[in-house]
Amino acid sequence: MTRVITYGTFDLFHEGHYRLLQRAKQLGDYLIVGVTTEGYDQNRGKLNVVDSLMTRIENVRKTGFADEIIIEESPGQKFRDIKKYHIDIFTVGSDWVGHFDYLKDYCQVVYLERTKNISSTMLRSQKKHIQRIGIIGTGRIANRFIPEAKLVSGVSVQGVYNPHTESALNFAEKWEIEAYRELEDFYNAIDSVYVASPHDTHYEYIKSALMHGKHVLCEKPMVLQKEQAEELFAYAKERSLILFEGVKTAYCPGFTQLLGIACSGMIGSIRNVEACFTKLEKKDGREFTDLRYGGSFIELGSYCMLPIIKMFGDEFTEVRFDTIDNDNGLDLFTKASFKYPNGIGTATCGLGVKSEGRLLISGTKGYIVAEAPWWKTTYFEVHHENPNDVEKYSDRFLGDGLRYEISDFLSLINGSSKSEFKLTRSESIAMAGVLEKFIEEKRG
Ligand code: CTP
Repeated sequence: MTRVITYGTFDLFHEGHYRLLQRAKQLGDYLIVGVTTEGYDQNRGKLNVVDSLMTRIENVRKTGFADEIIIEESPGQKFRDIKKYHIDIFTVGSDWVGHFDYLKDYCQVVYLERTKNISSTMLRSQKKHIQRIGIIGTGRIANRFIPEAKLVSGVSVQGVYNPHTESALNFAEKWEIEAYRELEDFYNAIDSVYVASPHDTHYEYIKSALMHGKHVLCEKPMVLQKEQAEELFAYAKERSLILFEGVKTAYCPGFTQLLGIACSGMIGSIRNVEACFTKLEKKDGREFTDLRYGGSFIELGSYCMLPIIKMFGDEFTEVRFDTIDNDNGLDLFTKASFKYPNGIGTATCGLGVKSEGRLLISGTKGYIVAEAPWWKTTYFEVHHENPNDVEKYSDRFLGDGLRYEISDFLSLINGSSKSEFKLTRSESIAMAGVLEKFIEEKRG
């Protein structure tokens, strides 16, 4: 008896899947089909699967070709399955040619020709109204945004605007999107905006996008004045638009898990939060030359303030800044110390001084520690009085991590999530307030 195995997500079951299973079955006498779990797909960066695992299994079963259906939940499982199920032939579609040749030592590997002009990706984009996002700005972060947005279904990056037309044209050519010379034309072509322009232009762009009825995802720091943040959030609310600050850490799965554990009482009442993020930058870069909006705290402060404000809220009684400055007055290194009635927070940022990046949350029964890069949390530990009593947690963080905030932004727009708990308006407003105070005290 010839035993055949194949694997797939089989989302929005289509003719290509049917034909593949039909031909897989014809290769032998007994066909095993592995269907991926949600967790496995998420771990490999596929955040856009529509059908549940049960539906996908049921659709495979209904074809009548599978003699046995198993689930695929981890990388490396294929090799184990081949041994376990005494497989003679492993088969998948021709989009995977070469990818599974390493299995040839254990069984025959057959790549079946893929059915043309149909895929789950294509069906997913037809099914939903695609949120057309326009990008304002063409810098580093805008370049990271596009590949990440491609991994979130329901989103397509439509075009770019930059008052420097040359930069917009180059960016548009690189990413095969439209460049718009006029803001009006840009707004007419899109549903929402990603603001990735220089910090001091955020306020005006957000306001104009909201006035044109567009949802806004703005790169951190959203604005540098508390009143501006309040005004923009109130304006967005009035118009039923989503305004969303992109501090990517807030949306990453590991960080959400860490906060959940911190708030669960596992380490008792929280009394101290220390967050440090340093990143050495070139002396001639924007961070060191923009005399008003450059420097360590404006660049990295949002990341380090985030866990403090998440843990203790926005009602600190005092905030103090200690800085080590460059010759031009920009801070190479800053420690912002927050006092609360029952807690202390320290946010340490450096662009010209290197330190150990770490997030430490101390409570009355224990502490949580996440090492650098904790701002892309993948691993953390919970410690108690007994040094042997350590719990270890890990979670996924894929690519540049922007996919998580884009996906949450989209859920809020589509109404599939009503809660903005990962970064609330009042938390964003509080962060803008701290940045404002910093600018007042240090830059006059
Ligand atoms: N397949 C095929 N012809 C298609 C689409 C898929 O033969 N037009 C095959 C794939 O090569 C794979 C199996 O069907 O062996 C399951 O593929 P899956 O990744 O679930 O389907 P896709 O439509 O390719 O999904 P996506 O667009 O999400 O990549």
